[in-house]
Amino acid sequence: MTAEMIDIIRDPQRAISEASRVLNDGFPVAIPTETVYGLAADATRADAISRIYETKGRPQFNPLICHVCDIEMAERYAVFDPVSRQLAETFWPGPLTIVLPLRPDSAIHPLATAGLETVGLRCPEGYAGDLIRAFGRPLAAPSANTSGKISPTAARHVMEDLGDKLQLIINGGLSPIGVESTIVRVDPDTGAILLLRPGGLAAMRIADAAGRDLQRRAAPAAIIEAPGMLASHYAPGASVRLNATSVEPGEALIRYGGMPVTGMEKAAIDLDLSPSADLAQAAANLFEYLKRADASGAVSIAVTPIPVEGLGEAINDRLARAAAPRDGEE
Ligand code: TXA
Ligand code: MG
Repeated sequence: MTAEMIDIIRDPQRAISEASRVLNDGFPVAIPTETVYGLAADATRADAISRIYETKGRPQFNPLICHVCDIEMAERYAVFDPVSRQLAETFWPGPLTIVLPLRPDSAIHPLATAGLETVGLRCPEGYAGDLIRAFGRPLAAPSANTSGKISPTAARHVMEDLGDKLQLIINGGLSPIGVESTIVRVDPDTGAILLLRPGGLAAMRIADAAGRDLQRRAAPAAIIEAPGMLASHYAPGASVRLNATSVEPGEALIRYGGMPVTGMEKAAIDLDLSPSADLAQAAANLFEYLKRADASGAVSIAVTPIPVEGLGEAINDRLARAAAPRDGEE
């Protein structure tokens, strides 16, 4: 089997109707979102969700983000505290996932939440939101890649990785944000906001909207509440060397802001995430450039320092995971 690819621009109606048909049959569909491509399936059906794990080759059942088309749909499955509601009203649709207590009567299947009493909900923008509205039920969707590999930001990435395992891939062009959503959880008693995963919505924007600083975990790799975030989650084949100030002959180079690097003329490939030092552009290019650096055949990828402010927090988080030891892979 090779997946059919339907282009949203060329065939908008079939992009919705065919995806709905496959989802109704209980099979996953790869869909574009503003962050990365997702492998989406009916979040209320065990058979559909187990096919996500099977397709990704995920050895364990980790909680998946469930995608909704608006706050009303979210409320059918989860209970909002006032701060979470304000964040949803401010940032949905968009790259923000909010972990909320499940309603006792929630129809979201425990396989999607790994049996937790909470659910990570996100309302995506554009086609994904339209599809959920047409389908009428939430979609569980991790990134559409083989477990442990780099997340896809183009339909072509999904086709190359999972094309022989899927029925349908929806092509919506390049993912504009390029890194996964930011995940937060609010303590309903204190209103404190815990940052579980930095992502495509800068933490500062959340803090500004809520009028309070975000709390961070001391060691991101030790997050237990987000077991999908094990250290080596975004691993390319080549090893990754961070904070490089020079590049070895034959090494691949990923740099930032147009800054020259010692030895760059002998690099296997020379990629600048954003010559104009724009962190949003760097985030959008990150996964594609990691894949290109990997495909250059170099055994090592040297990455120069990237500022940690704004979206740089998510970029540095994903780079740290790409550089992490490869054991403990999910
Ligand atoms: O941008 C994104 O978030 C993409 C697109 C497709 O929407 N999705 C994505 O999903 O990255 P996934 O399944 O790869 O990542 C979900 C993360 C995992 O780290 C998981 O452990 C965490 O969210 N998570 C999900 N539900 C949770 C819960 N109830 N409590 C804590 N963490 C949760
Ligand atoms: Mg993923």
